[in-house]
Amino acid sequence: MIPRIYIPGDSGALALGAEKVAKAIAGELAERGIDAKIVRNGSRGAYFLEPMVEVATANGRVAYGPVKPSDVKSLFDGGFLTGGHHKRWLGSPDKIPFFAKQTRLTFARCGVTDPLSLESYKKHGGLNGLTNALALTPADIVAQVTESGLRGRGGAGFPTGIKWKTVLDTAGDRKYIVCNADEGDSGTFADRMIMEGDPFVLIEGMTIAGIATGATKGFVYVRSEYPHAVAVMNKAVEVARKAGVLGASVLGSPYAFDMEIRVGAGAYVCGEETALLDSLEGKRGMVRAKPPLPAHKGLFGKPTVINNVISLASVPVIMDKGAAYYKDFGMGRSRGTIPIQIAGNVKYAGLFEAAFGMTLGEIVDEIGGGTATGRPVKAVQVGGPLGAYFPRALFDTPFDYEAFAAKDGLIGHAGIVVFDDTADMLKQARFAMEFCAIESCGKCTPCRIGSTRGVETIDRIVAGIEPEKNLALVTDLCNTMKFGSLCALGGFTPYPVMSSITHFPDDFKPAPVRVAAE
Ligand SMILES: Cc1cc2nc3c(=O)[nH]c(=O)nc-3n(C[C@H](O)[C@H](O)[C@H](O)COP(=O)(O)O)c2cc1C
Ligand code: SF4
Repeated sequence: MIPRIYIPGDSGALALGAEKVAKAIAGELAERGIDAKIVRNGSRGAYFLEPMVEVATANGRVAYGPVKPSDVKSLFDGGFLTGGHHKRWLGSPDKIPFFAKQTRLTFARCGVTDPLSLESYKKHGGLNGLTNALALTPADIVAQVTESGLRGRGGAGFPTGIKWKTVLDTAGDRKYIVCNADEGDSGTFADRMIMEGDPFVLIEGMTIAGIATGATKGFVYVRSEYPHAVAVMNKAVEVARKAGVLGASVLGSPYAFDMEIRVGAGAYVCGEETALLDSLEGKRGMVRAKPPLPAHKGLFGKPTVINNVISLASVPVIMDKGAAYYKDFGMGRSRGTIPIQIAGNVKYAGLFEAAFGMTLGEIVDEIGGGTATGRPVKAVQVGGPLGAYFPRALFDTPFDYEAFAAKDGLIGHAGIVVFDDTADMLKQARFAMEFCAIESCGKCTPCRIGSTRGVETIDRIVAGIEPEKNLALVTDLCNTMKFGSLCALGGFTPYPVMSSITHFPDDFKPAPVRVAAE
C-alpha cells in the first residue's frame, strides 16, 4: 500500500502555510523517489496546530504539527511516513486532548476524509441519513427532526422541525431550501470549515430538507470572503449530481432535488434571512417586514426553508442515528451538540464541538487555555458582534440558549472572542454602535439614526462632556433600539453596549478620573 499523507486544504490552514508545506512534501517525495498519495483534507479545527499533517500508518493515523516547510526534510529523515518521532510529532489525532474531549457529531468527518471523495464520505457513514429518510414519509422526517430538539444554529435558536413543518404544510407549486452560509459573526468559522472539509454533509442535509418539505431546489448563499468554500461546494455539487445524489431522482427515488451555490457581496445584514432572500433575488439586501414568514412566502414568493449551514449539516446524523440519540446530548431545551468557535486573544484557538452545557469558564480557561498574551481574561464576547461581553464573574454560565438569555447574553452562532485586560470596553461599546451604523440596511429609524447618535454620544463620554448625562442617554437610546428595531441588527446592538456599561463601569468613567485611576 502506498503511503497516504493528509495535508489540509482548509483556508485557515492555508493562511498558516499549508500550501508551502504541501509543496515541500511533494518536492521531497519526488527527490527521494517515494510514491505516496497526498490527500488535501479539511481541518480538524485545532488552528494552533495547523498546518497539521497526518500520515496513515499500520497503527492508524499519526499527526505532526504545526509543520513548517523547514521541518519537511527532517520529517522524512525521521521516518514520518511510518509515524516516526520528530519534534512536531503529536501522535494519534484522536488522543490529542483538544480532540479527545470533543463530541463530534456534525463534524465527525471534517478533517478526516477527502472532502471531494463521495467514496470516502460513504465509508465514514455518509448518505446513511438520506437513505433512512427516503424510507420515511415527509411528515415522519419532519417529526424526527422536531423530536431531536435541533434548534437553528444561525443565531435565533428556532426549532428546525417546526420551521420545516410550516413549509411542509404550506401549499406551493414550487418550494425552496435556502442555506444561510453568510457567516458574518466575528470569530466564527464553523460554516466555512464544514463547506471546505465535509461539503457532502451539507448537500445531504439540504436534500433531506427538500424531501421532507416538498422543495425541489436549494440555494447555498455563501459570503464572498469564502472563495475556497465556494470552489469546494461547487465541485461537490457536481460530484453529487453525477452520482445521482442530486437530480431528477435522488438515489433512484421518486424525489427530485438539485441545488446551486450563490455568492453574496459582503453585507453583514445579508445574513438576516429576509435580506438574504432579497439579495438572492438580485435585489439590494433589505430586511423584509414579517409576516409573511419566509416559510409561507420566501424566495420568489414561494414557501422557503431558510436554515444555517450547521443546522442543515446536523440533520444527516439525526436521520442516521435517530432523534433519541441526538437528543440525549445537551441540557435543558438546548439539545445535541454545538460547534463552539474559540477565537480572539486565546492560546488554543479552534473549533470545539461539544454537547450543550459546558460552562463559559471551562471553554475559555480549560479548552482555550486562557489568553495568547498570557494576561488575565477581561471579557468574552459570545454570539458575534451583537452578542454581550461577559466578565469572569459570569464564567459559570452554561452554554445553553436559555442560560445565556437569562444573563442578557446570547449564544448566536457560538463564536466566542476572548479579550485580555488591556481591552477598553468603552471603545468596544463605541465599536458596536459604529458597526451597526455601517451595516444598517437603513429601513428603520432606531437602527439607522440611533446607531449614529450612539457613536456621537459615546464620543461625548470619551471627551468628558457631561459623562453621566450622556451615559443615561446611551442607555435610553439602547432601549429604543432594542424595542423599536425591525430586526436583530438594531435590536441586539444594545447587548454589547449595555453589557460593557453594566459589567465594566470603570471603563466608562470620565476621562480625567480614568487617567487618575491609572
Ligand atoms: C443582522 C443579522 C445577521 C445574521 N447573520 C446570519 C448569518 O450570517 N448566518 C446565519 O445562519 N444566520 C444569520 N442570521 C440569522 C438569520 O436571520 C436566520 O435566523 C437564520 O438563517 C435561520 O436559520 P437557523 O434557524 O438554521 O438558525 C442573522 C440575523 C441578523 C438579524
Ligand atoms: S434594524 Fe437596522 S438592519 Fe434591521 S431592518 Fe432596521 S434598519 Fe435594517
